[in-house]
Amino acid sequence: MKIRVEKGKAEQYSCELLLLFSFELPQPLEGPIQSVDSKWKGFISDLMKQGDFKGELFECRLLYTYDALPAKRVLLTGLGKKGEFDLERWRGAASKAGQFIRNSGIKQFVFPVKKFNALSEVELAESFVIGLLLGTYQFNEFKTLERDKIREIGEGIIIGETAEEIQSLSEGLRTGKIISEAVCMARDLVNGPSNQVTPTVLAEKAQQIAKVYGMEIQVLEVSQAEAMGMGAFVAVAKGSQELGKFISLEYNKGKGLDTIALVGKGITFDSGGISIKPSEKMERMKDDMSGAAAVLATMQAASELQLPLHLVGIMPATENLPSGKAYKPGDILRTLSGQTVEVISTDAEGRLILSDALTYSLRYQPKAIIDLATLTGACVIALGDYVIGLFGNDESLLSRIEEASGKTGERGWRLPLWDEYFEYLKSDVADFRNVGTRSAGAIIGAIFLSKFVEKTPWVHLDIAGPASIEQERPYIPRGGTGAGVRLLIQLLRDWKKDY
Ligand code: BES
Ligand code: MN
Ligand code: ZN
Repeated sequence: MKIRVEKGKAEQYSCELLLLFSFELPQPLEGPIQSVDSKWKGFISDLMKQGDFKGELFECRLLYTYDALPAKRVLLTGLGKKGEFDLERWRGAASKAGQFIRNSGIKQFVFPVKKFNALSEVELAESFVIGLLLGTYQFNEFKTLERDKIREIGEGIIIGETAEEIQSLSEGLRTGKIISEAVCMARDLVNGPSNQVTPTVLAEKAQQIAKVYGMEIQVLEVSQAEAMGMGAFVAVAKGSQELGKFISLEYNKGKGLDTIALVGKGITFDSGGISIKPSEKMERMKDDMSGAAAVLATMQAASELQLPLHLVGIMPATENLPSGKAYKPGDILRTLSGQTVEVISTDAEGRLILSDALTYSLRYQPKAIIDLATLTGACVIALGDYVIGLFGNDESLLSRIEEASGKTGERGWRLPLWDEYFEYLKSDVADFRNVGTRSAGAIIGAIFLSKFVEKTPWVHLDIAGPASIEQERPYIPRGGTGAGVRLLIQLLRDWKKDY
């Protein structure tokens, strides 16, 4: 879908469909819908009085104008109760309107924007575009039958009246597009199956992004990682025929800006290895590279938005498979940090590859490290499938993550990292084990990671739940979600030099 901004008035604009939003009654109509209503001799307000359109949240009503207006159709979309309105509902409403238009086979729509409820045009346009583009996302790459039945909206036109409004709308559109495209790229990578999205393909994708946006890139082969001492990453990678890649991208290198390291788990398929998983739902384990996809997408958006930060994106990528070369329970690994780990389960592979990636990130002396990983099933049990587990060693960084979470609607909930939990990881033969008991699984995974960041402010996001969902949300279709991307971008946009 192409989206652009134009000058125009709702009641005068000739188009296939005019998109209008309204709160629930008894709110009086305001803004563009009010101007359209008066031009239409009170048709919309009558309809609402009769109860044929109530303005309930996400309610959609399609109307034909029969030449009463230059627009051929009007779509009314409900915003619910005015007092409960926020940007999260707004994104949902934009999505529901977009899905309605697309599913009706209508190819073009016009949407007039005026500030309301203390929200600026920039914010409204940005969140509208995000809700619309994320809500109408589809993964059709491998659908070969009835391709002609796949519906897409051709163009959306956002209209404003004054030069100032148009300026603000264009700005909101630009950011909204950059963010949505990044999220959709992450979704494509997550939805792509493991026979397509291999570590090599992830590395190629990173190369491509590095080239387009002028970023530095380094892709280490497993043999190079081995020579550097990444015993944990190598142990996981060596069980697979598919070559592992240790990918680092760097944006704004050598400009004296604050350095932030983003680390993403890139297991392109997690069978569990020798500690093999049950086959039920194993197909979901293609999404085990969602952390890496989120890091890659964030790097892309950050550079498009020209954020004044030095970012390092680190993505250890490999499969986790059983084979004659695979690592085994009982093996003792020497990590890049020098600390040794006794492998109890080869299915706790994420923390292993991340341990080396976290240690590696310290070379950049970052002000903060944020890692994203589909780390534990236990986190899904604890928080469900739309909440990110938040862990960290730095109050200020954690609360800024929570602030970004509030703004983006990407919910997160803190879990503790008390020292006592470390007891579960004590090993008789090595510095620690890679698995504790069944209890507190998400916390134990995070405690393990905490041993590899030294004193650097660090936050770990366990995205095992929200990375891929079975039940759609207002602007998040089923499948890969791009979890964490919007949250990270918001955090980075709000970053202040003196943190
Ligand atoms: N990739 C999984 C975690 C996961 C499970 C993500 C379900 C999404 C949905 C991870 O590598 C894993 O297997 N974790 C184990 C850890 C255990 C062996 C300590 C788990 O959660 O069972
Ligand atoms: Mn696993
Ligand atoms: Zn995994």
